Amino acid sequence: MPASFRNILRPGLTFSYCYQRRMSLASKAALAVPKDRANLLDRAWSEAAQLYLQELVPRFDPWLQSALVELRQHELPAGPIIVPCCGPGHEVVLLHQLYGGRRTVLGLDLSQGMVALAKQAIQDYLQQQQQLQQRDRGAGGAAAVAAAAEPVVPATPLDARVADASCLDGYGPAAAVVSVFGLQQMGPLAPQALASWARCLAPGGLAVVVLWPTNVERSGPWVTFDQVVLEKAAADAGLPPPAPDAAACSPRSEWEVQLTQPCVREVPGVELLTDRLVTHPIEWDSLNNFWQVMTEGGPWRARRLAQGEEVMSDLRNRFFSKLIAACGDAGSQEPLLREAPHHLQREPGQHQEQQGQQQQRNQQQQQQEGGRLVHHPSARLIVLRRRREEGLQQEQLEQKEAVAGDQQWQEHGSGGGGGGAELEGRANRLSTVAVKL
Ligand SMILES: C[S@@+](CC[C@H](N)C(=O)[O-])C[C@H]1O[C@@H](n2cnc3c(N)ncnc32)[C@H](O)[C@@H]1O
Repeated sequence: MPASFRNILRPGLTFSYCYQRRMSLASKAALAVPKDRANLLDRAWSEAAQLYLQELVPRFDPWLQSALVELRQHELPAGPIIVPCCGPGHEVVLLHQLYGGRRTVLGLDLSQGMVALAKQAIQDYLQQQQQLQQRDRGAGGAAAVAAAAEPVVPATPLDARVADASCLDGYGPAAAVVSVFGLQQMGPLAPQALASWARCLAPGGLAVVVLWPTNVERSGPWVTFDQVVLEKAAADAGLPPPAPDAAACSPRSEWEVQLTQPCVREVPGVELLTDRLVTHPIEWDSLNNFWQVMTEGGPWRARRLAQGEEVMSDLRNRFFSKLIAACGDAGSQEPLLREAPHHLQREPGQHQEQQGQQQQRNQQQQQQEGGRLVHHPSARLIVLRRRREEGLQQEQLEQKEAVAGDQQWQEHGSGGGGGGAELEGRANRLSTVAVKL
């Protein structure tokens, strides 16, 4: 954090630092994903894992690449790279490769199914490395066959483990923490989780984190789904429908607004280098393809498990009609549904009558399936760095002053107040968690 920026914060530091400290002391004890939520995530992501790997990993790859670009700009200190919410392990393997196999990389994920895939990806990668090494050394014959049967032990290990990554205390000091699309799943725990990721950094270490914010897009299938969820909730409660842009304009959840505050204020020597939105396009073959991937291989699988098939089927009907109507809207700037999927296009050499019948069938089918679906969601990219020793010592001195202020503040007392606001905030957070399942 540049000094000038810190000076801006100084006048308010005592109060806000104390508040954050109280928050952190209270939440540190409870910093773990609640058991029922952890079980739901484990089951949903384990069932989704294979399809996620096949369908969503390639679509989310541009954001992973953006994170790696940030990482490569910095020289890292010694230490392992920790990958919270590592999913099926492609990030673990990529990071091991990125540093020439010279750094330990450890992936953590709640989902046993995801970790099983990650272990498989690691094993495949190591096997490949071994084969390449043997080829380079020109080893052949019986010796090579015997070596291939041996378990592969890399010079610097890489591994994936089942663990709740909302608290990394005890994993550091790490050279880097890299996490893509896991933090938003922690909802209200996210600010303290990010602080624990920063705490686990060695001096000079870097945290590169990508997450989905509440408002990922102004228009597109994800915000349409959020809108449909709000509309269904209102209809079920017998309330008037929400405004047509209610989801697109929904306020950011409290945890999202405060996301980087605990780590910057509480963790000695942490500076925020980047906090910005990164937009990339995502394409789907059809509406059906989109719905299947999101509900079977993606984050809405947890919603399906929690709320059941009947609710999902109602949401699906509402979602399809709304999106198809939105795509037909002449006012929309860029059509979401582009050309028909390949199998719906006219075959060359068809007779006119056949073509007519075919077109009619295509239109009916296209109504259900839609053409290719394109949208441009934005993810939040955060880069934090822990200062090297020199900076850290100064920061620790400042923190001592702040702790002294904290004690003073506690002695003189302050109710903390804002009970109503806190309750309202909690309700907001809960509704966001529900929407973001
Ligand atoms: C959208 S996937 C992202 C996977 C991978 N990082 C990627 O970008 O493809 C989210 C992952 O976060 C994991 N996850 C959610 N909450 C977690 C927690 N508290 N601790 C560890 N993993 C968690 C889920 O199990 C899931 O594998």
